[in-house]
Amino acid sequence: MKMLSGRFRQPLDPDFERWQRSFGFDRRLLKYELAASSAHARALKNAGILSADELINILQGLKQIGEQAEVSQAFLDDSEAEDVHHFVEKRLVALIGETGYKLHSGRSRNEQIATDLRLYIRTVIDQLCCELTELCAVFADRAEQAADAAMPAYTHLQRAEPVLVGHWLMAYVDMFLRDADRLASCRKRMNLCPLGSGAVAGATLPLDREFIAQALNFDGPTTNSIDATSDRDFAIEFVNTLSLLALHLSRWAEEMILFSSHEYGFITLPEAYSTGSSAMPQKKNPDLLELVRGKCGGIVGHSISLMITLKGLPLSYNKDLQETQKPVFDSSETILQILPLVTGWMRIVELNHDRMQQATESGFTNAWAAATYLVRRGVPSRLAHEQIGKAVQLCVGKDCELQDLPLDELRSINPAFDQDFYESLSLQSVLAIHDVPGGTAPARVRQAINLTKEKIEALRGEIHAHA
Ligand code: ARG
Repeated sequence: MKMLSGRFRQPLDPDFERWQRSFGFDRRLLKYELAASSAHARALKNAGILSADELINILQGLKQIGEQAEVSQAFLDDSEAEDVHHFVEKRLVALIGETGYKLHSGRSRNEQIATDLRLYIRTVIDQLCCELTELCAVFADRAEQAADAAMPAYTHLQRAEPVLVGHWLMAYVDMFLRDADRLASCRKRMNLCPLGSGAVAGATLPLDREFIAQALNFDGPTTNSIDATSDRDFAIEFVNTLSLLALHLSRWAEEMILFSSHEYGFITLPEAYSTGSSAMPQKKNPDLLELVRGKCGGIVGHSISLMITLKGLPLSYNKDLQETQKPVFDSSETILQILPLVTGWMRIVELNHDRMQQATESGFTNAWAAATYLVRRGVPSRLAHEQIGKAVQLCVGKDCELQDLPLDELRSINPAFDQDFYESLSLQSVLAIHDVPGGTAPARVRQAINLTKEKIEALRGEIHAHA
């Protein structure tokens, strides 16, 4: 049946009718549509539109729809339902009769979809924060286990300075905790209830909006009906936040791919997450990492497509807004699938500490520490830089490291060099001089790991309290 067909004399073109439906994807919102409808029904009863019996019938009908959908996916096979709102109405009427039509009194699908989408995103944010916390916990555990193991840190993808492996791993934790924080802040801003905004000008019945908002665990009702029915900032903000998270995951994946290559050999890919080549028998490919990198690109694409969908829309609701759902769903589902996989991967990946240590001890990663030795002896830093640069050049000619140069050769560059120079170039000394908050000196790294672990525990506590 054509929906809302009173003012029409002609039926819809069948192809157009099928094409414009959103039930194929907005069925994901069923749970939220039912919750929002229950809250609305109770407000209708309070406003004197529904009798107590009608309310009970409607609430029971809605509950039954939810239960049937849980039991069988086939329940959702409805080739006539235009969207999730239409589906619920149809089912409700089938279950309880004409009273079902009363549920729509005083409301519009414009406010319904805005509400359902907020409820969906709010739930996904809670799940994501949980997954991110577990991911960070595994990174922090691995960082702690790495203890005093060292590796080269890179700038310009050239060996730069030694760092603790734990310091490197904790860099990712900082990124992911920022992502969790951004999600929480996005949740806070979007946690307002559009119900009662009507089609654009506000409900036509005296609905208690505070009551509805509270029933759905919103912090309160939205403040402007025109904005509330046409706003998708919350969806954009959410997907933008996910695209930043995706970007972090993608950078992580890229680095792991590099480090797993024979050329680096810093990590050994877990077989449980890698596949072979159909042609080359020796291959073990970093499939998980490549797919993470690949899928994350799609999420960045979604955030752009959302903004483009919105940028030309006059106030308030336009059907274009239906197109904002798919990017939200796909980004959410993709990241929700990726995070536990990355957590599992990180838990078992083998870190090849010997290879990392070897790489740290060659390639002049102690050159800045060497210059610092001179600076501590009063040599101006530009000059010290220049003189260590000369020493490096000598080493390149001799195919050796700075600590292999004899003292007399060093003294010909600057008489300030002394026997203790060699000790200052040891890996331990080089790590130890980076003794600032946020630096790689072992005690600092241990402290950072401990602080972060406390933060993770606090997050777990909050998640537990909300659950
Ligand atoms: N399926 C629609 C959407 O997702 C629901 C709102 C329809 N509103 C309307 N005025 N046609 O946006």
